[in-house]
Amino acid sequence: MNRMTKLLSVSLIAVAGFALAQTALSPMEAHEAREAHMKLYGPQLKILGDMAKGDTAYDAAAAQAAADKLAELAMVDQSTWWPEGSDSDSVAGSRALPVIWTDMEGIMAKQLALEAAATSMQAAAGVDLASLQGAMGAVGGSCGGCHEAYRKPE
Ligand code: HEC
Repeated sequence: MNRMTKLLSVSLIAVAGFALAQTALSPMEAHEAREAHMKLYGPQLKILGDMAKGDTAYDAAAAQAAADKLAELAMVDQSTWWPEGSDSDSVAGSRALPVIWTDMEGIMAKQLALEAAATSMQAAAGVDLASLQGAMGAVGGSCGGCHEAYRKPE
């Protein structure tokens, strides 16, 4: 264990299961796991976002299903996905900025924001359109907030 691992394992692993690998994926596997998982968020966001904007008709059951799926995805244990050496300078195709490994607490806070927003959406999506709309900003903001700080621009 290096110094950061020790620090983090004490303070953070218990909080969100997000911090550092206990059983390591290779850097490439970790990048691929992150990317595959992130891509699963997209369709749920599109269903909810299109309804929120009025591009598709509000459908309580479909909205609830998308919100349930999003929340389920957001809660997936990511603790093995962020090994050192899996940043954008080290792994071809990775867009995970190196700053993540000097600011693990910061990115964890962003992950917790997504979990909170997805939980609120889960409670709101099936109620009515206004409730869905009210929960949408925080969800989109939690994706964008993390990407802005920790994902390399294309
Ligand atoms: C805690 C930070 C964080 C949160 C929250 C987050 N992302 Fe990401 N996302 C990243 C990072 C870092 C990458 C780059 C990963 C890599 O390349 O290994 C990424 C990559 C992606 C990718 C790109 C895959 C590719 O082709 O490069 C998509 C799509 C994506 N995220 C969608 C989302 C959506 C939608 C949400 C919200 C529901 C979300 N993300 C929430 C950090 C986050």
